[in-house]
Amino acid sequence: MRSLIDILDFSVEELQELIDTANDIIAHPEKYSERCRGKKLATLFFEPSTRTRLSFEAAMYELGGNVIGFSEARSSSAAKGESVADTARVISCYADIIAMRHPKEGAPLVAAMNASIPVINAGDGGHNHPTQTLADLLTIYREKGRFEHLTVGFCGDLKFGRTVHSLICALSRYEDIRVVLISPEELKLPSYVKKDVLAANHIPYVQTTDLESVMPDLDILYMTRVQRERFFNEEDYLRLKDSYILTPERLWNAKADLSILHPLPRVNEISVAIDDDPRACYFKQVLYGKYMRMALILKLLQEAGRL
Ligand code: NCD
Repeated sequence: MRSLIDILDFSVEELQELIDTANDIIAHPEKYSERCRGKKLATLFFEPSTRTRLSFEAAMYELGGNVIGFSEARSSSAAKGESVADTARVISCYADIIAMRHPKEGAPLVAAMNASIPVINAGDGGHNHPTQTLADLLTIYREKGRFEHLTVGFCGDLKFGRTVHSLICALSRYEDIRVVLISPEELKLPSYVKKDVLAANHIPYVQTTDLESVMPDLDILYMTRVQRERFFNEEDYLRLKDSYILTPERLWNAKADLSILHPLPRVNEISVAIDDDPRACYFKQVLYGKYMRMALILKLLQEAGRL
């Protein structure tokens, strides 16, 4: 059974196929409005989320399908002690496809190993978030028209930011990608990502604490929130939370065609004064996320023989 647990589960060609489908959905939404009639998406959210869950729900409704599920662990039978493996088996009897978010790294993989329907990882702890990467990829493609020859800056919480880990994995397969890692010392990209993804694919990268000095090089700036819920103590969070705050003044030496992305939610790391700057892409990125989730649901249901 085909699932999406890690962005590398899909080849570069398959990702392009999803982008092409999403672009076609944007151009001709009416063609898709009945494609999932009678099908059910189960959204199993063991960790709070509004945008990702609602994005999945909106995606399924726009395909003419239905949604069942829960939005917090307390209202699921996990509260009674049920395992993820059992939950996946049970839900396979009710739905056609699962989107799961879980605070534990690897939980959606366990679900996929036990479900008889496709499972989509909607975020597992500080590990991966492949469907956010789909949104990021469509944004980059529509803004830049390519994935090759780009210098991509990641700024903020690179340690716990799962969207960063997944996007770096995805970009590591394209030609001439350069990565700039901008974070406080304590929130540097985990060494496993540097070793297994960047070094293994010969992707040149630099690490710095200083955004201003690298700004002129960037084609894309991927800002992130400091992930408060993953800190062990509040003091560290308070000390690090305001490390980077992007303001119009701080863009003084940026490229005129820089694209600023952010997976959202934003706390204060991008000033609202930037929202109207043509380089701000983060609200478009939200919309693109819904279209990519539509394309993904279609692909996985087709491969499962359920469409
Ligand atoms: C991200 C996440 O959940 O990891 N949000 C999202 O799904 N768009 C980013 C974040 O929470 O900071």
